[in-house]
Amino acid sequence: MTDSAAPSPLGPLAPFAGIWRGSGTGHYPTIDDFTYTEEIELSPPPGKPFLFYRSRTWDGDDGRPLHTETGYLRSAGEQVELLIVQPTGFVEIQRAPLADGVLDFTELILGASPDAKDVKSVRRRFVLDGDELSYDMWMAFAHVPMTHHLNARLHRVTD
Ligand code: HEM
Repeated sequence: MTDSAAPSPLGPLAPFAGIWRGSGTGHYPTIDDFTYTEEIELSPPPGKPFLFYRSRTWDGDDGRPLHTETGYLRSAGEQVELLIVQPTGFVEIQRAPLADGVLDFTELILGASPDAKDVKSVRRRFVLDGDELSYDMWMAFAHVPMTHHLNARLHRVTD
């Protein structure tokens, strides 16, 4: 039997693997609305049951780099776990059941650096539909309760 015939150790995560490119919109009561372009990389190391995760974003008007974050997407029993590190001083562990391509995450941990902004909670929801990956993100920040911050839609690219 060749390696290519072996089952993927990614299990239900396999359809998420790829390079994804697209665009999004952002808003929040404390800031001006904005648009952005994004590349998300979900790449499988050979033989491992997880995907490396990296998101990079650029301002939709002038192309300057905006937010970026890295981490892992891994199977955790019946659930999927997203581990994220942000250079703005946050670390997150989020877990979700996977049903019909939807990952509606529940925050397990939000760690913040002493000089990070006053983010109290983050909610993330991803929807995979074939070669389209979309997500929403909400946060509770300072005096603002859980409120939508981001929506983006990306497509799988092959280059
Ligand atoms: C696609 C990813 C993201 C993009 C493109 C993005 C973009 C932005 C932009 C353009 C602003 C307004 C200017 C600024 O303060 O820098 C902002 C504000 C902010 N974002 Fe995001 N963001 C992203 C993800 C996140 C995440 C994951 C968090 C949560 C930890 C977060 C938390 C905040 C906070 C706390 C503010 C400041 C609000 C204020 O000072 O009033 N952002 N974001």
